[in-house]
Amino acid sequence: DKMKSTATVDSQVMLSDGIYSMWLKFPKEQDVASKAVPGQFISMYCKEGSRLLPRPISICEINKEESMLRVVYRIAGQGTKEFSTMQAGDTIEIVGPLGNGFALKEGKNVLIGGGIGIPPMLALAKALKKDVTVVLGYRDSNLFLKEEFEPYAKVVIATDDGSVGTKGNVIDAIREEELEADTLYACGPMPMLRGVKAYAEEKDILAQVSLEEKMACGIGACLGCVCQSKEKDSHSHVNNKRVCKDGPVFDAREIIL
Ligand code: FES
Repeated sequence: DKMKSTATVDSQVMLSDGIYSMWLKFPKEQDVASKAVPGQFISMYCKEGSRLLPRPISICEINKEESMLRVVYRIAGQGTKEFSTMQAGDTIEIVGPLGNGFALKEGKNVLIGGGIGIPPMLALAKALKKDVTVVLGYRDSNLFLKEEFEPYAKVVIATDDGSVGTKGNVIDAIREEELEADTLYACGPMPMLRGVKAYAEEKDILAQVSLEEKMACGIGACLGCVCQSKEKDSHSHVNNKRVCKDGPVFDAREIIL
């Protein structure tokens, strides 16, 4: 299995209520940042109780020159709560980069992030560089990270409460703005991903979806992340996939959501 690396917290800020942004610096020889691609994640270990499984957190930005990775995460339990108290100079054990990341395509790219699925879209928008539209789904007018996308993409907003942008979900916003896409890339809660899959089928376009929400440990140890694939083996059994090993990014046509 993958080796652990020791990262040093370079900086940490709270972006909004319960959502934190942390830059981690890695020793150059560990090669963690230089290997990372958008859509991958790292699994971060807590100090309290080394028996505990790590927490998978998606990569928000990659700085290869400085050997740094940025993670943006929401406090969702004891582990992430502990991460939120860390300060510059603290060290943290991680495994990664893990998972398969997004395949970068030519043509019109529409990136879709919902809630805490928004952060990985920033690294992706920066990597794609051109013809990028980002559709961000938020609960309300608390638009964390939105401004950071603006140098790299046209930004479209959907909010549940209608306070900013389209009132409704990300697919409502795509229809309202009449966005054209050759490829969709999405990360967010399951109902949103189901909507993206259905929309891609309706338009007959490729959708790459990240199922990172289903992961609990990220390292193959909890078996909590199994999803069904449409691929059948030679005995026509349903072929199960582990999100943390086979994903977290899948072609939406190949999985059952
Ligand atoms: Fe624990 Fe996949 S997330 S086994």
